[in-house]
Amino acid sequence: MEIRFTLNSIEQSIEITKSQTLFDYLRNSGIKSVKYGCDDGRCGACAVLIDNKAFNSCLILMHTLNGKTVETIENFGGNRELHPLQKQFIDEGAIQCGYCTPGMLISLEALNRENQNPNEDEIKDALAGNLCRCTGYVKPILAAKSTKEHENE
Ligand code: FES
Ligand code: FES
Repeated sequence: MEIRFTLNSIEQSIEITKSQTLFDYLRNSGIKSVKYGCDDGRCGACAVLIDNKAFNSCLILMHTLNGKTVETIENFGGNRELHPLQKQFIDEGAIQCGYCTPGMLISLEALNRENQNPNEDEIKDALAGNLCRCTGYVKPILAAKSTKEHENE
């Protein structure tokens, strides 16, 4: 089966099998920001944007992506520039091992695209599906809030 979709601003036309997941496709295509966690939709480590909303790629079958736009954090920022959320995660010390960080950034970017001025409860809701075993959530929430504060300066 052939599908066409856009991955990180590049149009793709590929042959897939019916049971192939987006997670497997991305990892086999060299997209390493998507992380293997639970493989059943509970940890958020494999999150990506599909048409601007966050989804766990381990639950997405490739054949459902025809005509859609998929983004990973490889598409964030510029060639040599970090995305504002990435900068604030570093500045606020919101990263320890970093395994959950790409998924958190995807969830927060999905929130930002839907809501330009999210409050703390909305940020917490956006991160509810992202499990972190290291930092807890205080610093990632702080980083999300301070990204907005910098944007509004
Ligand atoms: S690996 Fe996909 S949600 Fe955990
Ligand atoms: S920083 Fe290690 S799991 Fe979140």
